[in-house]
Amino acid sequence: MAIKEYLLSVSFLLLLTLVPFTTQSKPNANPFGFLKSLEGSKKGQNVDGLHQLKMYLRKFGYLKNHHVSQNEVTTSSTIKEDNKLFDESLEKAIKLYQRNYRLNTTGHLDGATVKQMMNPRKWPSSKYELTFKILSKTLVPGAGNMTVMVTASLNTWRQYSPFMFQEVPEDSKSDLVFGFFNGDHGDGRPFDGPKGILAHAFYPQDGRSHYDATEDWSEDPGPDQFDLYSVPLHEIGHLLGLAHSADPSAVMYPTINPGERKRGLQPDDIQGIQAIYGPI
Ligand SMILES: *[C@@H]1O[C@H](CO)[C@@H](O)[C@H](O)[C@H]1NC(C)=O
Ligand SMILES: *[C@@H]1O[C@H](CO)[C@@H](O)[C@H](O)[C@H]1NC(C)=O
Ligand SMILES: [Zn+2]
Ligand SMILES: [Zn+2]
Repeated sequence: MAIKEYLLSVSFLLLLTLVPFTTQSKPNANPFGFLKSLEGSKKGQNVDGLHQLKMYLRKFGYLKNHHVSQNEVTTSSTIKEDNKLFDESLEKAIKLYQRNYRLNTTGHLDGATVKQMMNPRKWPSSKYELTFKILSKTLVPGAGNMTVMVTASLNTWRQYSPFMFQEVPEDSKSDLVFGFFNGDHGDGRPFDGPKGILAHAFYPQDGRSHYDATEDWSEDPGPDQFDLYSVPLHEIGHLLGLAHSADPSAVMYPTINPGERKRGLQPDDIQGIQAIYGPI
């Protein structure tokens, strides 16, 4: 069965999005510092401390339990210290991570990958109350009420994260901005007309989330329409710092079919957002 899939693309502004991890009492302590000592690891090697990398990749959704080789403990999120073989499934998980962050898909833990892994893109705790606005001039007539859909999508994420969202008047500055655009719209990521790329968003703390005005959007999508709730729900995940997931049921899976509706966050999405911001 040939199912056409459409890409929900995410843009990468590396310089703008590399955020210092936190401002805690030990300013130089990076919780992902262990990655530095693993730099250069590749398939076939036995490396002390590699279990931490496996836990990291599992925590962020790149290494699934069912990708884990048989001798691993699959019943808990803990991976034993003696699990230090850089195996096929680890290589796959690293390649997936590298693809998601537009790094070279070397499959080994190169310097660029370590650097990226040590700087998860996130909002600082001082910015957990995010303002948002919808560019009303860009709205597509007949698509549905974007204010209602965006508010519903934001509320969905709010249930599982420390964020609060507040709409502000259009002429004020806001943390998050939602708008519909056609073709080249000035951010170096032109839209491609109907189908294909539906929307894109930028990682923290950029806040922009753009929707292709030429798509057939609907609050209640028919078989050829795209869901005005599911797509913002996905893009907001990027706005908050999540990358794509390999789990097809997840909101953060990179593609959606016409007529498809994602109703709420899946365990993989919840695990992802709470891996960044902690449980609530
Ligand atoms: C990817 O590989 C090319 C060629 O080796 C190199 O020039 C480039 O800097 C690499 N990019 C990243 C992000 O590491
Ligand atoms: C969208 O819904 C909101 C809340 O119900 C309403 O205030 C607003 O006027 C609606 N916008 C449009 C364009 O219909
Ligand atoms: Zn995406
Ligand atoms: Zn754009």
